[in-house]
Amino acid sequence: MSVSLNHTIVLSKDKVKAANFLSELLGLETNAWGPFIRVRTGQTDIEFMNIEDSAWNDHITPQHLCFLIDEQAMDVLLEGLRRHDVQPYEDMFYEDPGVNSFYGGRGCYIRDIVDGHLFEFITAPYEGKPANIEKGRWNNPVDPTAVGS
Ligand SMILES: [Fe+2]
Repeated sequence: MSVSLNHTIVLSKDKVKAANFLSELLGLETNAWGPFIRVRTGQTDIEFMNIEDSAWNDHITPQHLCFLIDEQAMDVLLEGLRRHDVQPYEDMFYEDPGVNSFYGGRGCYIRDIVDGHLFEFITAPYEGKPANIEKGRWNNPVDPTAVGS
């Protein structure tokens, strides 16, 4: 049995600009497919779609997407953020500017400059209890062992 996320649709007021922003940050290509501009990340396509082409929504609700990237891609990302004058944040509440080391690698959160979607980039996957968190609102995290499968 195999399950993976194949694609997700992200609404935008300018799908070309939105896809180009993300693809540049991650050093990836874009391609047009139907009404979408796609950015392929691993096995998952991020399909940007103009809101006026969608039938199920009349406003853009910010989505949270997290990308697991390697250290080299993080370097490319941080340089791209500087180029676009986008502030990375350590925390998901966008209170602490910077890059975190919560899970042993590097991680940061940004707001995408086109639609305000909430992108996260990490070089180490979430596993167990976050480490290196000394501030922010992570003072009462859910115990992963308490969540049933
Ligand atoms: Fe996240």
